[in-house]
Amino acid sequence: MVGDHMRLLVTGGAGYIGSHTVIELIGAGHDVVILDNLSNSHTVVIDRISEISGTRPTLVVGDIGDAELVDSLLSEHSPEAVVHFAGLKAVGESVAQPLRYYRNNVAGTISLLERLDAHDIRTLVFSSSATVYGEPESLPITEDAPVWSVNPYGETKVQIEHILSDLAVSDDRWRFAALRYFNPVGAHPSGRIGEDPPDIPNNLMPYITQVAVGALDRVMVFGDDYDTPDGTGVRDYIHVVDLARGHVAAIDALGDRSGFHAWNLGTGVGTSVLELINTFRSVNEVDIPYEITPRRPGDTAASYTDPAKAERDLGWKAQHDVADMCRHSWRWQSRNPTGYRG
Ligand code: NAD
Ligand code: UFG
Repeated sequence: MVGDHMRLLVTGGAGYIGSHTVIELIGAGHDVVILDNLSNSHTVVIDRISEISGTRPTLVVGDIGDAELVDSLLSEHSPEAVVHFAGLKAVGESVAQPLRYYRNNVAGTISLLERLDAHDIRTLVFSSSATVYGEPESLPITEDAPVWSVNPYGETKVQIEHILSDLAVSDDRWRFAALRYFNPVGAHPSGRIGEDPPDIPNNLMPYITQVAVGALDRVMVFGDDYDTPDGTGVRDYIHVVDLARGHVAAIDALGDRSGFHAWNLGTGVGTSVLELINTFRSVNEVDIPYEITPRRPGDTAASYTDPAKAERDLGWKAQHDVADMCRHSWRWQSRNPTGYRG
């Protein structure tokens, strides 16, 4: 039954946000089976999850778009609900390879939804993103702001949200939560799991930790002439463990709600690039050389949420501040300098 301790399918559960969420779901008493094609993750993550949580989730290695495999997984494990993380997420790559992104993210999700429908599983929490707000017109961002995208990755999120919302209109047995994440950073406080980008990181926090560990020279600060207090870009960073707990709360909330619902998950606090670098330096006592460079095309000056709707509906609120995020990111990176490949 939805809302109680449940059997859950977690797609992409070996990834960065998925692995942290699996730990929180297990901690809340749920049984988890992970479906992940390991295109951006490693099986050792499952060992670490079981070390931290005391329970080993089942891992099925395969693709969300493989209908036969998904059918047999659903028959064997009969999950009652799904947390759907699986997807490709690099903005630049999505511009260069749009078909791969639409195939993997959108077509993969359609195929997954068809199989779920066939098995009478109609509760799903989806990893959406603040990227669906395009260039936000006003701050803080609330869930009723216009949804549109500025790149193919963002467009996959917009399209999937529309598909979920159309499905919910077609049949009121569907229950969907689209969780629009702001900027997930940090790592489990154990230092055993964290973010492990395959190449040079695109995102600020993993870039900072790689500079801190000596793998990269210095952080490039993309522009100091934005209309923000210190001229650098402002974002709503959210600790990945808080984000993970938001999924536990969303699964609970869908217990007494049908239809499609969107919730922003962030702290409501905006932090600039220089503030993040300076906090990282001071809490970890490590130097972070940086250089101001031109703006990165496509970047917006500032983005942060109004977290009121999530707090009201989900009874969820982020607990960790930016200092915790910096501390835990560094604990993960300093103990695993080459990530899971060490
Ligand atoms: P991640 O790459 O670490 O995790 C995604 C996981 O999905 C990986 O383990 C990958 O192997 C798997 N996967 C990808 N395509 C698959 C497929 N077709 N079939 C099965 N498995 C597949 O990424 P993450 O940072 O943990 O992000 C998780 C989700 O959250 C993604 O949908 C992403 O778009 C979304 N999101 C991430 C951020 C962020 O900044 N990290 C922000 C907003 C939204
Ligand atoms: N930045 C730098 N140097 C870097 C990387 C980033 O100065 O090396 C700056 C950016 O200009 C921005 C801030 O740091 O001001 C944060 O950048 P990130 O790349 O970490 O995050 P974004 O907000 O640009 O992107 C994130 C997700 C995307 C998603 C987007 C919008 O990574 O997937 O939020 O929600 F599309």
